[in-house]
Amino acid sequence: MTSTQKTSEIIDRRVCVAPMMDYTDRHCRYFLRLLSPSALLYTEMITAKALLHGNVPRLLDFDTSEQPVALQLGGSDPEELAIATKLAMQWNYSEINLNCGCPSDRVKSGQFGACLMGDAARVRDCVLAMRTQTKVPVTVKCRIGIEPGMNDLSDEEFLQNFIATVSEAGCTVFIIHARRAVLNGLSPKENREIPPLRYDVAMRMRALFPHLTFVINGGIRTVDDVVAHLQGFAGVMIGREAYQNPYLMAELHQQLYVPDQPLPSRAHIILAYAQYIAQQQSQGERASNMLRHVLGLYNGLPGARSWRRFLSENANRVSNVTQLLQDSSRIVESQAA
Ligand SMILES: Cc1cc2nc3c(=O)[nH]c(=O)nc-3n(C[C@H](O)[C@H](O)[C@H](O)COP(=O)(O)O)c2cc1C
Repeated sequence: MTSTQKTSEIIDRRVCVAPMMDYTDRHCRYFLRLLSPSALLYTEMITAKALLHGNVPRLLDFDTSEQPVALQLGGSDPEELAIATKLAMQWNYSEINLNCGCPSDRVKSGQFGACLMGDAARVRDCVLAMRTQTKVPVTVKCRIGIEPGMNDLSDEEFLQNFIATVSEAGCTVFIIHARRAVLNGLSPKENREIPPLRYDVAMRMRALFPHLTFVINGGIRTVDDVVAHLQGFAGVMIGREAYQNPYLMAELHQQLYVPDQPLPSRAHIILAYAQYIAQQQSQGERASNMLRHVLGLYNGLPGARSWRRFLSENANRVSNVTQLLQDSSRIVESQAA
């Protein structure tokens, strides 16, 4: 067994929060970590090129309390990805993930994302190059297939070929967004909604590759969904619901890890986050960049709309964020009572 395999077994992948551009930044992850001590948190995708040419500390800095954090890289050039991985290791990320699932506009130029599923040998070479620079797991996030580009193969055959080839490079963990990516004709948003979910295809990979680890993603929204998927998969990755209804992360942690302990109160979480915001403000960060991540905290409760409105209207105006959060929290709690 290689050292990578050993490390990958140490990471608890039962609950993961998906990489989401413009959402899962470091502030968002700090907030989610307050709700869930256990979830594996993914960064937004950062392209290898951005790391080669951009402000590396700005792109890679995070608070150690966010750990375990997986860095998601975008790219298709093995050499660039190897350099990006080397840089990332100076920040001690727990895992490096390669994006082979995102149907972004830049896909057309073949730079990264789901189009890479059409060139499994390249993905294998990228993973190989990345693994020369790190001992932490190099994982791949992919779809079940891509349109066009499957050459009349079924989803199952296509995905099986992809996984067989990429795992030759020592990738032992695959996160499968259980839909095809439609590369011409659908927007990224439509690509998260229109192609049907096929958990069964991902499940068959489990049987075909019993030595590999599979994490399932796509359309998972409740504690019950997660518990059901964990019967078949090593882990579950949650995207939109973790952002829109972040308290789900606290419920999942409690249910799966500490069923005998009470859930943390939302007001308690908010106070802890307010302290973080104040500390970040003292370093020049804008409160609104951090407050936006808490808007969904009371989702599903009476008063949730007032909470969102009050915070959105005041985020740019106030100097005392702790007071703002306490006031808005009080409004909701009184409506909920
Ligand atoms: C706003 C947004 C941004 C996303 N950005 C990324 C990204 O950077 N990398 C990636 O692999 N997937 C990205 N995704 C896809 C998610 O990681 C996830 O695969 C998808 O939302 C399906 O999971 P869900 O149904 O739980 O949301 C993004 C999704 C959303 C909603």
